[in-house]
Amino acid sequence: MSSKLFDLVQLNLPSPVQQLSSPLLEKKQIKLYVKRDDLIHPLLSGNKWRKLKYNLLEAEKLQKKKILTFGGAYSNHIHATAAAGKLFGFDTVGIIRGESYEPLNPTLSFAKEQGMLLDYLNRKTYRLKNTPEVISRLKEKYGDFYLVPEGGSNQMALPGCAEIINELNEQLEGKFDYICTACGSGGTLAGLISSAEKQKMLGFAVLKGADFLNEDVTSLLGNTSPPNWQINLNYHFGGYAKKDQQLSNFCRDFENSHNIFIEPTYTGKMFFGLFDLIKKDFFIKNSTIVALHTGGLQGKEIYSKTGS
Ligand SMILES: Cc1ncc(COP(=O)(O)O)c(C=O)c1O
Repeated sequence: MSSKLFDLVQLNLPSPVQQLSSPLLEKKQIKLYVKRDDLIHPLLSGNKWRKLKYNLLEAEKLQKKKILTFGGAYSNHIHATAAAGKLFGFDTVGIIRGESYEPLNPTLSFAKEQGMLLDYLNRKTYRLKNTPEVISRLKEKYGDFYLVPEGGSNQMALPGCAEIINELNEQLEGKFDYICTACGSGGTLAGLISSAEKQKMLGFAVLKGADFLNEDVTSLLGNTSPPNWQINLNYHFGGYAKKDQQLSNFCRDFENSHNIFIEPTYTGKMFFGLFDLIKKDFFIKNSTIVALHTGGLQGKEIYSKTGS
């Protein structure tokens, strides 16, 4: 990477790998590591950094001054794109799904503080956000921009996520059998698939009825999909951002046992699913699993205190 774009910002890369221990892992003879992408940067953590990295480089290469992207009112991606704009010197526009309301929630007020210009599309128009008509209307309104899709999941997201595998190959000398990640749009999983040759990839869908994910991931991979991956649809807990007492208890116990913060929308569901599958002997004895910590912790108190 020859660009000097990222020189001024200190990123904790390669992100650390941490081994977990628990009676269950011992009993089932499973080695479990967490790839701590949550520690990359307080504001650009997890898969957000991985997915934005090559998009930012491309924006720079194309001499774009402004980045426009889409997201819901609580979007981790909006949060991260706003922070990246401020850190790396891009103007940012966030097109938010639904009506505007005051006061802004913490995600949107953070984005605004970072200098992101917020605009809103009603839900019907938002569904058409990728159509030429809506994009050209946005171009008329905001001038020239580099477009990053909702969730940051496009072709440019793949090489950044693929770097996770390169790092793991060095850190664990290639000795791991599975890599697990939470799946929203599937961009992170697609990036992992694009690079891993020997390992199996397991995605945990956080949305209900996410059968479309297989097709979306395959399409991100340019319709050439190797056979070494699958998406588990059983741990959505009722849908996006839904949780129940069992999941909340699991997240609390996980944090207490391993001293790693997780949240119930993405990483909590993945770890819950992963431990459940370990209990059910989904993985053969002596498997080594890496669970990707994709961040998303900015709502946690610990981060809101330090993450400025
Ligand atoms: C914390 C966190 N983990 C996982 C994901 C899922 O990533 P993807 O949309 O690439 O499947 C997201 C959404 O981008 C996220 O914010």
